[in-house]
Amino acid sequence: MSTIDSVLQENRLFPPSEDFRIKANVSGMEGYNALCEKANNDYEGFWAELARDLISWKKPFQKVLNESNAPFFKWFEDGELNISYNCLDRHLDARGDKTAIIFEADDGTSKHVTYRQLHTQVCQFANALKAQGIKKGDRVVIYMPHSVEAVVAMQACARIGAIHSVVFGGFSAGALRDRIQDAAATLVITANEGVRGGKPVPLKAVVDEALGLEGSESIKHVIVYRRADHDNVAFKPGRDLWWHELTQNQPAQCEPEWTNAEDPLFILYTSGSTGKPKGIQHSIGGYLLGALVSMKWVFDYREGDVYWCTADVGWITGHSYVCYGPLAIGATQVVFEGVPTYPDASRFWSMIAKHKVTTFYTAPTAIRSLIKLGADLPKQHDLSSLRILGTVGEPINPEAWIWYYEVVGGSRCPIVDTWWQTETGANMIAPLPGAVATKPGSCTLPLPGIMADIVDEAGAPVDPGKGGALVIKRPWPSMVRTIWNDAERFKKTYFPEEFNGKLYLAGDSAHFDENGYIWIMGRIDDVLNVSGHRLGTMEIESALVANPLVAEAAVVGKPHEIKGEAVVAFVVLKQARPEGEEAKRIAKELREWVAHEIGKIAQPDEIRFGDNLPKTRSGKIMRRLLRVIAKGEEITQDVSTLENPAILDQLRHSAL
Ligand code: WT7
Repeated sequence: MSTIDSVLQENRLFPPSEDFRIKANVSGMEGYNALCEKANNDYEGFWAELARDLISWKKPFQKVLNESNAPFFKWFEDGELNISYNCLDRHLDARGDKTAIIFEADDGTSKHVTYRQLHTQVCQFANALKAQGIKKGDRVVIYMPHSVEAVVAMQACARIGAIHSVVFGGFSAGALRDRIQDAAATLVITANEGVRGGKPVPLKAVVDEALGLEGSESIKHVIVYRRADHDNVAFKPGRDLWWHELTQNQPAQCEPEWTNAEDPLFILYTSGSTGKPKGIQHSIGGYLLGALVSMKWVFDYREGDVYWCTADVGWITGHSYVCYGPLAIGATQVVFEGVPTYPDASRFWSMIAKHKVTTFYTAPTAIRSLIKLGADLPKQHDLSSLRILGTVGEPINPEAWIWYYEVVGGSRCPIVDTWWQTETGANMIAPLPGAVATKPGSCTLPLPGIMADIVDEAGAPVDPGKGGALVIKRPWPSMVRTIWNDAERFKKTYFPEEFNGKLYLAGDSAHFDENGYIWIMGRIDDVLNVSGHRLGTMEIESALVANPLVAEAAVVGKPHEIKGEAVVAFVVLKQARPEGEEAKRIAKELREWVAHEIGKIAQPDEIRFGDNLPKTRSGKIMRRLLRVIAKGEEITQDVSTLENPAILDQLRHSAL
């Protein structure tokens, strides 16, 4: 990948300023090393102390880590707590009137919600859920716009011990049905309509469509938040209920359900190497600890900060750094409903100035597109409130890093490039900004207590400069507990036999540089990273072959300037290979089909029709050749094992 090539040459170090270092929660490399040493010497004691310091327990834990049923690890298993209590109630005495959320709507209007107000809303909604018969352990699907109410819905589930499964509002009815079915959810929480970039998002209509599909029969009720000021959505009597009607007479107090640290908190589906998304299951205690520790160390949280993570609650970043982390630590945060380019490409910058944001966390793809749309725009806004910048989701190329650092951060704010995953629950590899000097394009060093390494096929550590598989050698508190309904797949995917089931395999390749810094190079499985979103190539292929016109399809990624990776689909139709206008028409139809099957984010950027796909004599599709063709490069590899070499030429000239 071109971005990887250019990052390899980057070697500049950016140490924190002295002023930053002195004030930081973890100060200087002495501070960082001391924490690492503590974790090395007494791993359980290290985490136990943090868990006691940062979390309010109803019943303190005695046991720290249980490895007896590895890789199904347990943390703080005899402890009892409630995560919503930790995010809300415990702040009420000291910070009840502090703003918890500054919500800015798509149209630019904003409102402040205090911790006390948020607590009331969560309690009322939790009571409404109980009144609908929702109880501990039930699965609730949340298909909401990015909003205060989405946070309320998640927190209310957590308050009563129900397991939420948030589905990103851009996913299709089919994807929503799959997730409802896998989790056997009984309730969906949605909105009549969302709005993003001035355009309506028909959430309730998609829910209705999903519930009309086979497999979603477990759903008893749909709660509808009236985001758009109208009632013109279909309402099914007995099934559909208005949020405001359900909550209006509910008491403002709701005793939290005292859950076990190992009870499931949520399921969040993510793509893997097969066609079926995995229900990543997190548990309460360890997950909360990961969110809190990273707020403190990586985002260097201090009273007075205004934190803004731009991720939607539909992704793990929105779970850990919108719904849970900032509230658990008592921060004021911005929740933004809209998109970075509406009404224009200075939206982020004007919002930073308006709300005096101190800590800004976004994705490289957003940074790259905003550079393209207006590299000078940040200069027109007062960004002097900023003190930390963060990135997540994909590698950031040094050019974008430097722009972010200089133009947005005024060469004053450390950039925390945070590597982590849906499965890890919280930041894993990232510079602690008052300690670790940053380097453009590298996520630098693991957090203290995170035993990251890079190994070869035999599981042996690789030398600096050599690529290998990124692994985590010890269980950590916020790690995935299992795949919902599929413990076997959990074991096979993350603790494979090739490493004796002992190492957590992240699925990324990486290398160390001469400073011991980690560089993420990309996925080693059939997973694409498009605009920081994870997409399984198999998932897109299954969607394509489900179309009646399609006989066969293979999907690969190719580098893309803004999105990081673009989706390229090679398609064989049941009919003769189309050309000209017909090919264009069918390509358009297939793109719309994928949007409808999975969601717009999975739409192929490019479609190439062929009479066949390049296959070995045993019938295996040679994807590495497809990757070369997709990139538009010459094929230099050995093609002698190919059954049908002539097909390569045809595919090379067929981009649409
Ligand atoms: C995959 C996880 C973690 C929240 C967002 C994505 C890639 C993530 C970085 C980074 C390079 C990164 C990896 C990882 N990734 N952060 N800072 N540098 N790559 O969560 O959807 O679970 O995807 O995103 O490939 O495995 P996710």
